[in-house]
Order: sequence, then structure tokens, then C-alpha cells
Amino acid sequence: MQRRRIYYFICLSTLIASIIAILLKSEEKMEVVYSKLSDKVFVFHYPSFRFLDLLRIGTRMSVIALKDGGTLIYSPIPISESVLTQVEHLGPPRYIVCPNQFHHLFVEEWVARYPQAKLIGPKELSKKRKDLNFNYFFEEGLPADLIDEFRFQTIKSSFHETLMLYKEGKILFSSDVVEFFKGSDDILTKVYFKATGIENRAICNPLFKFMYPDIESARLQLTNLDGWEIETVVIAHGDEILVMEAKKTFLDGILNNLK
Ligand SMILES: [Fe+2]
Repeated sequence: MQRRRIYYFICLSTLIASIIAILLKSEEKMEVVYSKLSDKVFVFHYPSFRFLDLLRIGTRMSVIALKDGGTLIYSPIPISESVLTQVEHLGPPRYIVCPNQFHHLFVEEWVARYPQAKLIGPKELSKKRKDLNFNYFFEEGLPADLIDEFRFQTIKSSFHETLMLYKEGKILFSSDVVEFFKGSDDILTKVYFKATGIENRAICNPLFKFMYPDIESARLQLTNLDGWEIETVVIAHGDEILVMEAKKTFLDGILNNLK
């Protein structure tokens, strides 16, 4: 009887919290913000993205022009005509990269639009997204032309993220390893930032710590970045791309908090 009461209490609390969350969400649709890091690297910030359809944390997609005239799309956002215009300015997509187990939500739009593009992701994601046909998995090796232009490092976690360095631009691309929020005008998101204490610093989200069951292995893999030349870090979630002491800020953000 006692157990049943607790169960009903949890269900009711979850229902009330969900209703409050929906009522508090501001519904404005924000424009995608486009940044040109160089003639070969464009970044698109999609500020309307809500984690779990609740928290407005935004997300970034990056497009890199390859030596052969094609492009690589890293962590896709929804397709729109304005986004496509900028992407196609750089060249036709040849690779579409899902960097981890979470960043796959909009990939089918890109695959449908560019069926010739090769799809890359973590092997585990193919179990979750059986509707997608992956051409390459990070764990099984990537094509030589990509290895020529990029470096890849998988970080051991249950979300299976692989970091990607564009060697020529000295730009590191990451999705969920580090976040850097400076605030929010969305009430629910603001409450979340305050409650988790992640505001105003580059940090590994404390809520994600349980997704690193083998912290020592993850830290060891991050040391592989020591020899990488990194001047800029594009993170998926946060107000800015990291440019000031970017490598140190990124590594401190994860290593100082993943213990
Ligand atoms: Fe993410």
C-alpha cells in the first residue's frame, strides 16, 4: 500500500512539473544565426532547440569545405532554405556526421536531401536509429580523405561522443562534452541553469557525469588532445564559440569537473 502511494505521488509530481514546464516555456521562434569562421568553415546556431522539448539550450551545426570540393556537415540542425543557401555556397555535402548518441535528431532531413552523402556516427547509434544507413562508424575507421584533413578522438561515455579537429583551421568540434551558458531569457531554462550551477563557465554538465562510467579512461583519452593544435572550439550548447584560450578552457571545463 505504501509503495503504491509513493508511485502515485511520483506520477502526480511528474505530471504537475510537466504542466508547469509547458506553461513557463516561451514559444518564440528564433532565427538561425550564421557565423563564418573562415572561407572554409561555417557555423550555424539554432537557438530554438529545446533539450527534451523543455530546456532551450540551442545547438550548433558546422559545415567544413573539403579539399575535393565537397563539404562535411557536423551535427545537423533542421534544414531551411536560408541554411541550405549558405551550406551549398561551400559545396555539396559529401559527409554527414552524427557526433554522438544524441545529435541525430535532424539527420534524416539531410540524408533525404543529399542521398549521395556518406553518413558517419557511433556504432551504438545504429541500434537506436535503425531507419538510418550508416556508411562509417567512428570505431571502425574512417575514409583516408577524412583522416588527411581531420583528427578524431572518441571519449568513452554512454553517449559515445567523438571529438573532431579540422587540422588546417585548428578548430575542434564538440557536442556534449563541454557546455558554456551565460544565461537565458527563458524562465524554465534559467531555473535549470541556476539549479545545476553551470552558468558562466565552460563545464561538463554535472547531470551528464553518470554517463561516464569509466572516468579514468575518458580522462586518458582527453590527454590525446595535448599534441593537437587547437585555436578555436565549436561547442554545440552555449552562448559562444570558444576563442580565448580555447583549448585550455575546453579541457579545463571537462577535466576539472569530471573526477
Ligand atoms: Fe547535445
